[in-house]
Amino acid sequence: MSPIGIERVNYIALNAKDPEAAAKYAAERLGFTIQHAAPDGTHYLSAHGVDRYSLVYKPGDAHGLHHVSYLVGDDQVLDQAGARLERAGVEVSRHLDHEWEAKPALRFSTPGGHLIEFTTGVHTAIPVAHLVEAPKSGGAKPVVPDHVGVGTADFDAEEKFMTDVLGQLHSSRILGPDGAQIMSFMRSPGRYLYHDIVLVRTPGPALHHIQFSLKNVDQFYETAEALQANGVKIEWGPLRHGPGHNIALYFRDAEGYWFEYSVEEEIILHDPTYVPRTWTVADPHVVDEWNSGQPPAELMGPPPADALLGTDLDETFGTKAAQS
Ligand SMILES: [Fe+2]
Repeated sequence: MSPIGIERVNYIALNAKDPEAAAKYAAERLGFTIQHAAPDGTHYLSAHGVDRYSLVYKPGDAHGLHHVSYLVGDDQVLDQAGARLERAGVEVSRHLDHEWEAKPALRFSTPGGHLIEFTTGVHTAIPVAHLVEAPKSGGAKPVVPDHVGVGTADFDAEEKFMTDVLGQLHSSRILGPDGAQIMSFMRSPGRYLYHDIVLVRTPGPALHHIQFSLKNVDQFYETAEALQANGVKIEWGPLRHGPGHNIALYFRDAEGYWFEYSVEEEIILHDPTYVPRTWTVADPHVVDEWNSGQPPAELMGPPPADALLGTDLDETFGTKAAQS
């Protein structure tokens, strides 16, 4: 399968009951900057990378992902991707002035119901967090969204779509207690990042978490301190994930979405010789190579019940953290 042309995550758009309040919280406490508030209430926030905006809150009561936008190389690649999706029987919509300062884009849904956008933007030869200079010290400094975790009931169909239609490659898999695959870490070929999407087996469509990379470990710990000083509760971490080997911490935003800030993710320089690894949930080093203990209740998964649509995350991940 030849690559469809995905280069990296562009931005992540979340439904928000109160987008203004969510944007204010992200700006005041999480290290983002509000760039624009649209008449319909959509708020666009930049991080510390190279893109006009990286996080978007859209008005909507349906808690979950609105869409994730991925960059492709140029308009020609975009056109070719659209044609390829349509040949595969995917319904594609094309957009011009659909978002603030948007370039032409196409959108389509995965079999699991997650809306994906392809558009063009700032091309980078290497991952953005590696490219940019370290942001000035002080405060939380998320640089760029590098992956999003999405849950779906028909895991196999979603995974097949990722590999067969989008040309994604496996970086690793996690198997549940019964041997069924419960997570899949997937990457775009030739783009170095360990993953730009994580699939999670859930009872229905769910947003699992969104992630932003930090520049370096110094920035990671500065950011951790800044979050705490800002009254943001770090609910899991710092820890070191097995898949991706990234150092990570987790907290929730004003809408209850799980955010991961992480650094030092494994990069894959040569796809043909990379061998995907399979983990099992029985291995305590899956969620944390430092083995600092089970994630607390509610962690390693999304928070508000309506986000999960009934998902039992402890069951999903084979963890048995005490429920309060
Ligand atoms: Fe993640």
